Amino acid sequence: MTSSQSRYFEVYDSWKRDPEGFWAEAAKDISWYRLWDKVHDPYAGHHGAWFAGAECNTAYNCLDRHVEAGRGDQTALIYDSPVTGTVKTFSYTELTAEVARLAHVLIELGVRTGDRVVIYMPMIPEAVISMLACARIGAVHSVVFGGFAAAELATRIDDSKPVAILSTSCGIEGSRVVPYKPLIDAAIERAQHKPRYCLILKRPMAEATLVPGRDLDWQEMLERGNGATVGPVAVKATDPLYVLYTSGTTGKPKGVVRDNGGHMVALKWTMPNFYDIAPGEVFWAASDVGWVVGHSYVCYAPLLHGATTLVYEGKPVGTPDAGAFWRVISQHKVSALFTAPTAFRAIKKEDPEGNLVRDYDLSSLRTLFLAGERADPETLKWAETKLQVPVIDHWWQTETGWAIAGNPVGLGLLPVKYGSPTVPMPGYALDVLDEVGNLLPCGKQGTIAIKLPLPPGCLPTLWQDDQRFRSSYLTQFPGYYSTSDAGFLDEDGYVYVMARTDDVINVAGHRLSTGQMEEVVAQHKDVAECAVIGVQDSLKGQLPVGFVVLNAGVDREASEVEAEVVQLVRDVIGPVAAFKTVMVVNRLPKTRSGKILRGTMRQMADGQAWAMPATIDDPAILEEIKAVLELRGLAQAKIV
Ligand code: COA
Ligand code: AMP
Repeated sequence: MTSSQSRYFEVYDSWKRDPEGFWAEAAKDISWYRLWDKVHDPYAGHHGAWFAGAECNTAYNCLDRHVEAGRGDQTALIYDSPVTGTVKTFSYTELTAEVARLAHVLIELGVRTGDRVVIYMPMIPEAVISMLACARIGAVHSVVFGGFAAAELATRIDDSKPVAILSTSCGIEGSRVVPYKPLIDAAIERAQHKPRYCLILKRPMAEATLVPGRDLDWQEMLERGNGATVGPVAVKATDPLYVLYTSGTTGKPKGVVRDNGGHMVALKWTMPNFYDIAPGEVFWAASDVGWVVGHSYVCYAPLLHGATTLVYEGKPVGTPDAGAFWRVISQHKVSALFTAPTAFRAIKKEDPEGNLVRDYDLSSLRTLFLAGERADPETLKWAETKLQVPVIDHWWQTETGWAIAGNPVGLGLLPVKYGSPTVPMPGYALDVLDEVGNLLPCGKQGTIAIKLPLPPGCLPTLWQDDQRFRSSYLTQFPGYYSTSDAGFLDEDGYVYVMARTDDVINVAGHRLSTGQMEEVVAQHKDVAECAVIGVQDSLKGQLPVGFVVLNAGVDREASEVEAEVVQLVRDVIGPVAAFKTVMVVNRLPKTRSGKILRGTMRQMADGQAWAMPATIDDPAILEEIKAVLELRGLAQAKIV
């Protein structure tokens, strides 16, 4: 298709001409208990608010509404778990009943509108049921990814102060059973805030010892409810639906707040217009519910749209092989798959010729969507060739909750330019700015900034920390939200997203902070100072690599300390940090003002051309680092 055949420009222009009219029109697809006073009120909330004055319920729109409209018998959710050998489906009627029953249990536990509930669960239907049960009663859920360790869970408990934690006895990582209960006990022990209750779903693969008075058996509580249900409550469109913590530059994660009304309007709009999905079709986001993609496209968007969502408890490879995705697509007639490029790199590594693709009937699959990290053209082209469907890269962040830029399949595809996630979506006006906020011309790289106000669905603030919201996103460029992504726009308005401008790295599609890792490494008793950088990795995109200088007088084998530092990061942040490489060095390279030259170290480790910084304090130290990197096979550095 040529750009003239796509409706994109017409739709984007209609938004630009009348943003409020555009979103008011989109909001007609949502059921409201009370309509808004203003589509966008610049004076409401901390930073303006969408649909201020309106009342709604997200769970109602995801569930009851479809049952009332005659979609009750349609499959709402498919649970496919190769790690337990289970496939189970829930119709809209059944899912509504499950959610309403769990909502009743939550009410019995004293959870009320506005209270927080932490959900720490693997990819099982109860994760989605828990999210929707919270939404039904207006409680604010905070899902914590299972790959985080107890200390990370404790940080989130202390920040969100939940009344209850909903969890299970274990998750399953490939063939490894990961007991969750000891992690929860350790997190609560560590946290200042103590939740009143933990509701624990016992899975047959692992026992869970319940603490009397605090821990409750999920199944028993549901049975005690004897089928009692509660209906959806009306909440304000601007009330929080959830808080999702994401990595920032420090050890303290950012609690991204999502509201109810704007979130529903934006997500619902994306299903036909961006993803080209019709109600009743199967939409599969192969992401964990612990990440934003899991929130938006495993739980909320497909259900808001009356589509069928798929909860997959498995991996792209190893459960049992690199044909796992193709098996799921053919078995459940998936229309669109959404995953991270790293998943395809993992598949390509195991099955470079794509032989396993041929074993399955993939005729249902119309489109593959990729996000979460830069889609490298090689992987994208491999997927296109093997699957013979359009492969759509799109760029978004936990903060935005939906795509900032992409190629809108539903509006008609624009020509693909490899390496670019294409064009901004309605709601997003992008500029590229230099360090002091000057507009940069086409082709020049700078920070990509979004003109305020942000569209519906984007974060209104950070949980209980409006000051941090402002300083993190709004103060650097007045009138803009800074994405902290560096990139450029080309003469056709295509955006290229190249790198983060902060300490955030992207490891296997997981957002992590090197600053946070440095804080943890520095806790080791023998470490005097340290630096953690993200280096390129052909499978996971990036991997963290640490450099540590030991305290004077420490007389131990470097390898011993290195192993302890690796274990420390795994224990404190969790296995998801994938922190496995650390090296003891004599000194860290610094500028004369004492700033560690992380950028130059990264260039060296990536084997890129690098230049001796003019401000360097002692050039010999960089030479030492280069030698250490080469010894570890990490650099083919050359001075230019
Ligand atoms: N619970 C417990 N541990 C977990 C976990 C969870 N939910 N998720 C990951 N881990 C562990 C892994 O088992 C691994 O442990 P190990 O060090 O003992 O091997 C470690 O955390 C690192 O995990 P990961 O980086 O994911 O590596 P992997 O080899 O297990 O899997 C991929 C690699 C590419 C297959 C996998 O990361 C993937 O599918 N990524 C896609 C991510 C995604 O969908 N992101 C959302 C945006 S769309
Ligand atoms: P997360 O908040 O986990 O969704 O991570 C958001 C970050 O991932 C962004 O700020 C980008 O750095 C990166 N990212 C996500 N999608 C893309 C993409 N399609 N292209 C390039 N970078 C991306």
